[in-house]
Amino acid sequence: GKYRVVSTKSMPGTRWINLLIEQDCRLEICTEKKTILSVEDIIALIGDKCDGVIGQLTEDWGETLFAALSKAGGKAFSNMAVGYNNVDVNAANKYGVAVGNTPGVLTETTAELAASLSLAAARRIVEADGFMRAGLYDGWLPHLFVGNLLKGQTVGVIGAGRIGSAYARMMVLCNTVEGFKMNLIYFDLYQSTRLEKFVTAYGQFLKANGEQPVTWKRASSMSEVLQEADVISLHPVLDKTTYHLINKESLATMKKEAILINCSRGPVVDEVALVEHLKQNPMFRVGLDVFEDEPYMKPGLGEMKNAIVVPHIASASKWTREGMATLAALNVLGKIKGYPVWHDPNRVDPFLNENAPPPA
Ligand code: GLV
Ligand code: GLV
Repeated sequence: GKYRVVSTKSMPGTRWINLLIEQDCRLEICTEKKTILSVEDIIALIGDKCDGVIGQLTEDWGETLFAALSKAGGKAFSNMAVGYNNVDVNAANKYGVAVGNTPGVLTETTAELAASLSLAAARRIVEADGFMRAGLYDGWLPHLFVGNLLKGQTVGVIGAGRIGSAYARMMVLCNTVEGFKMNLIYFDLYQSTRLEKFVTAYGQFLKANGEQPVTWKRASSMSEVLQEADVISLHPVLDKTTYHLINKESLATMKKEAILINCSRGPVVDEVALVEHLKQNPMFRVGLDVFEDEPYMKPGLGEMKNAIVVPHIASASKWTREGMATLAALNVLGKIKGYPVWHDPNRVDPFLNENAPPPA
């Protein structure tokens, strides 16, 4: 192989490996056992000559690494993730390294986990499972694990991009004929015309069949969603403007029995404030895939019965993870071969939001 490409982790499937090897690349997959590589570990991997790197969301891709990659002749970096808050894109630009991410293939998989957590929280499935396993079930009772009926309630989506919109469609239409028929309220800086059309069309279908139509509303502020929705799912990108978007004050404005789902990034939620809110409001329930100090949970969270916690697995389906690996390889390969990276967060993504301008 003419080009040296490094992957900081082994990734699912073989397609990504074959793609690189068939195209003149010598691939090195890091075999280091520890879960999270430090900047120093990665500098050592890059070495003196490296044309491109496939990295992970747990790694700090800032000034230091892009300088090292550029010095080693590197032209391309791809995160194996749609989110790229771990990547300093300005630093990459400065050192002439193209950056890629892996949107699209994880949209439905991630939305399905958000929907699973919503249902699990609504029907208290994890609590009830623990109760069974503990041998506590001694007969049917009218009050046992009473949860929420989603039908006719309102689902709130904060960030109606690819994942947020897919989740919204699932909760309203559920990819089935019937669906949960939830009403939708969403907040996004840009209008999601496609999502609005979907829900409008389904509402018309229900009305034509003599049923209560579902409704949608684009909220003028996030607080409107927090106040009105029964189930709220967070799908923004993490940046300065969304850090601690959910905090003590915003939690206080939510319904006492609301359900909050986070499959975006941990720091979008002030987790200390969340633990306190969960303690004060036993009927408030939360489903979390991401944490502020990942892999750690803030003290107390793990003991809360009204919290469901899973270890950042939202994109963890075989199809999606293999797809992400393939996209990451194509991003790096494309750039090495002189094409633009496949998915560059700097470029407008036509699938993201038809009304959003390119990121600044
Ligand atoms: C996972 O968290 C991703 O951003 O792809
Ligand atoms: C519950 O099992 C019922 O039959 O109502």
